[in-house]
Amino acid sequence: MEVEIHTEVFNDIYLKYLQDVTPFQILYGGSSSGKSVFLAQRCVFDLLQGGRNYLVAREVARSVRGSVAQEINKVITAWGVQSLFKVNKTDGTITCHNGYQCVFTGLDDVEKLKSITPAKGVFTDLWIEEATEADEASVGLLLKRQRGGSDEIQKRVTLSFNPILQTHWIYTTYFASLNWADDQQIYQDENILILKTTYKDNRFLTKQDIYRLENEKDEYLYNVYSLGKWGVLGDVIFRNVHIVDLNDETSEYYLPEAQRTNRRYGGDFGFSNDPAAIPCIHLDKMRKRIYIFDEFYERGLTNQELAPECIKLAGRERMKWDSSEPKSIQELQIAGVNAVPANKGKDSVNFGVQWLQGYEIIISSNCINAKREFTTYHWKKNKDGDSMRIPVDKDNHLIDATRYALEDDMEDSWLIS
Ligand SMILES: Nc1ncnc2c1ncn2[C@@H]1O[C@H](COP(=O)(O)OP(=O)(O)O)[C@@H](O)[C@H]1O
Ligand SMILES: [Mg+2]
Repeated sequence: MEVEIHTEVFNDIYLKYLQDVTPFQILYGGSSSGKSVFLAQRCVFDLLQGGRNYLVAREVARSVRGSVAQEINKVITAWGVQSLFKVNKTDGTITCHNGYQCVFTGLDDVEKLKSITPAKGVFTDLWIEEATEADEASVGLLLKRQRGGSDEIQKRVTLSFNPILQTHWIYTTYFASLNWADDQQIYQDENILILKTTYKDNRFLTKQDIYRLENEKDEYLYNVYSLGKWGVLGDVIFRNVHIVDLNDETSEYYLPEAQRTNRRYGGDFGFSNDPAAIPCIHLDKMRKRIYIFDEFYERGLTNQELAPECIKLAGRERMKWDSSEPKSIQELQIAGVNAVPANKGKDSVNFGVQWLQGYEIIISSNCINAKREFTTYHWKKNKDGDSMRIPVDKDNHLIDATRYALEDDMEDSWLIS
């Protein structure tokens, strides 16, 4: 069976890497630069051609199926080749008529990772999407597994992501030693390919997308999300954040399931651009620690769809929600959620931030969004570049919800002090 795929379906910059088999590839850059779509296209292309199996991973199993699998299925539909693929409803596995497969997994799903194999042959391709979410150890394990095997098979590992901070392990491991210049676009030798792209490389973007990216006022967000540069932040707000595996008995922050008591829940509403965000918190007042042991973070949900998620996380426990949406709070209440409005007094942002600065904030490595928000939350700068002591009001949904969740505890401490 012959399938014809036109070169016009690809963004030009990626096209020449469609059949590039450099063993280690990094595709990174600004948001909306076309990375995910291209890698999804390459996956479908390879499956149709046969000979290559894909293992696609993200830090958290439940997010890989929502995002990457969806992207790959979109390509299959766009290319009109649905009849050549079968999609497994339970685990999302995509099988081509020739037997080659794309399997999805989360780096948090260790047991599954150990046993996972394709129906025929080996995984030639390992694609880690949003690789900055993952910690070095779990990626290391996966890479180790991927090594070895026969020389005839050209194995390939691909990492894709938006950069975050220059202190990130991906930067120190792969970029620092190359003396990577941030205006560089390509590096390639026989072992590694690095391709940096931005929205300017994606001709399929809408005017609104371009406008949004070109008009970002915050310097850090502009550099990272619009220009795809590794970020530098002098003025981060929370320097008291620890990202840990809470189930690791050897860690000083070990917090097994049974000890996740004294819980607090908060919520921030969102729909299309912003996500609905809920952190699950264990408060340890004695040791002045806040543990974020779970998170919910999703766009596009109606309040009716959000309600069962709230109940899954918190049961009938109280959740403090952003009071600017009384109607949404009422809808959650009607659906059985113990939702109440946060008070949000005058100066509540700065007061809450200050209060949180007095605590150690311990975030489970599975909470990929809390991790990003809390480590990059930063002060606004004025035109001269001076810090203004006002937090930048972006990418702070779980942070805001954390403040709501702990509002009463803050008040207590206010009264005492
Ligand atoms: N080859 C393509 N064909 C059609 N649309 C594309 C293509 N590449 C990118 N896009 C559009 O651009 C958007 C952003 O691309 P995406 O791959 O998600 O960016 P990134 O992963 O770099 O953030 C996609 O949602 C899609 O609408
Ligand atoms: Mg992407």
